[in-house]
Amino acid sequence: LAGGSLILPIGFQRRSYAGDAGSPKVPLFSQQLRIPPVLNPVRSDATTDYYEITMKKATVEILPGLKTEIWGYNGITPGPTIKQRKDRQSIVRFINNSVGTPTSVHLHGMASLPQYDGYAEDLTNPGQYKDYIYPNNRPATLWYHDHAIHKTAINVYMGLAGMYLVQDDYELGLPLPKGEYDVPLLIQDKQFSSSGKLIFDNQGESSQMGDVIVVNGVPWPNMKVANRKYRFRVLNGSISRSYNLSLSTGDPITVIGTDAGLMGAPAQVSNFRIGMAERYEVVIDFSKYKVGTKIVLRNNHPANNDKYDNTDRIMQFEVVRTESDPSSIPSKLRDIQPIAESSAVRTREFRYERSNGLWVINGKTWDKARFDGNPQLGDVEIWKIYNNSGGWFHPIHMHLLDMQLLDRNGKAPFAYERGWKDVFYVGENETLRVIGRFGPNTGAYMSHCHNTVHEDHDMMNQFMVGTGGPDPIAAAPPKNLP
Ligand code: C2O
Ligand code: CU
Repeated sequence: LAGGSLILPIGFQRRSYAGDAGSPKVPLFSQQLRIPPVLNPVRSDATTDYYEITMKKATVEILPGLKTEIWGYNGITPGPTIKQRKDRQSIVRFINNSVGTPTSVHLHGMASLPQYDGYAEDLTNPGQYKDYIYPNNRPATLWYHDHAIHKTAINVYMGLAGMYLVQDDYELGLPLPKGEYDVPLLIQDKQFSSSGKLIFDNQGESSQMGDVIVVNGVPWPNMKVANRKYRFRVLNGSISRSYNLSLSTGDPITVIGTDAGLMGAPAQVSNFRIGMAERYEVVIDFSKYKVGTKIVLRNNHPANNDKYDNTDRIMQFEVVRTESDPSSIPSKLRDIQPIAESSAVRTREFRYERSNGLWVINGKTWDKARFDGNPQLGDVEIWKIYNNSGGWFHPIHMHLLDMQLLDRNGKAPFAYERGWKDVFYVGENETLRVIGRFGPNTGAYMSHCHNTVHEDHDMMNQFMVGTGGPDPIAAAPPKNLP
């Protein structure tokens, strides 16, 4: 088992410098935000859009004047965005070309059929490809990222991550900001050497932190906006860093969606925290600002108040023009039925801990031969998730399962968390109760901490749901490239 005996001092959100003086300095807000390109299908038929994505190494300029090697979907990071309509199937051929590492592509928030998932042990080696079939069965802001066993953190860190958006007619019919006013923001932190090389240093298997914030791959970008409302799909695609986001003006942010789609009703907040892999969809209204106003998206996480760096800032919005604004935020977004606690057929307890230098769930590390439960399709379960791991928070992700947060330390969830979610922020000394219903697919459901360094070493378990589900490794093996 990788590195279990290393015991290092652990602190909340430690920084990683790999012995150097920090990344080369980048002037803040000096580069413009980029929007990842939307991928075109290679062909389409009555039911399905077919896509192809090649994972490869590429050299790009992230820091001004320096060259950086990344591992990208189609050689870019973030990878291209896939946009799909609900109930129209997509088949994505992921080709492992020159990336030089085994991969497993996980569409975070949706099953793939029939192989079922981006199962961590279902590896596609260099020189192979695999077709993933996605049903697009509900509208949501998803992302695809690598999930190879024991390699997830480095593979994602080097660039293997992209957005995947599913929309339906109902949502497109709402008066929310659309088109160019509907913008993905994928936030990550990176550490660079003086020559621009990405430094991966997982601090003795506990974290990978960087002192450069990138949004859609651009360090501390500026975004030129009109004085109107914008919808942002915010994803924390970092390895180990969480954020607590707010506007420098102190004005509120309206949260409209969580991991698995729109909330029941919008929630106005002054700030919200976002752990790794969580998605929040927000609307920011720039109409009250004069042309020329600059508004900074701040990160108020106390652990980031660090004299070396600028990780307390994420990006800047610059109001550059006036425009009329036909959009509005409906007071009701969609129906969300709370799952009744009384419908739960069992409660499970999970302790996320650091124990003898290992990251464990109920004292155990990942074992592909072990299932920690066998719920039946349709079963409702309550999970009680404990974090007493001495200074670490864990964003806990369930594959193939949307859940609802019942309470945190016995108190009601934050207003912005009251929607369907597949990642829950479990802060230090927090205990969460979440509820969900298994289905519609039978088979192996993984669950893990989405600090992917913790996941890799080896804070992950799985459940066998129902009977007769596909073997996630054998069901649809990768094929060799011609
Ligand atoms: Cu975002 Cu198991 O993954
Ligand atoms: Cu963790």
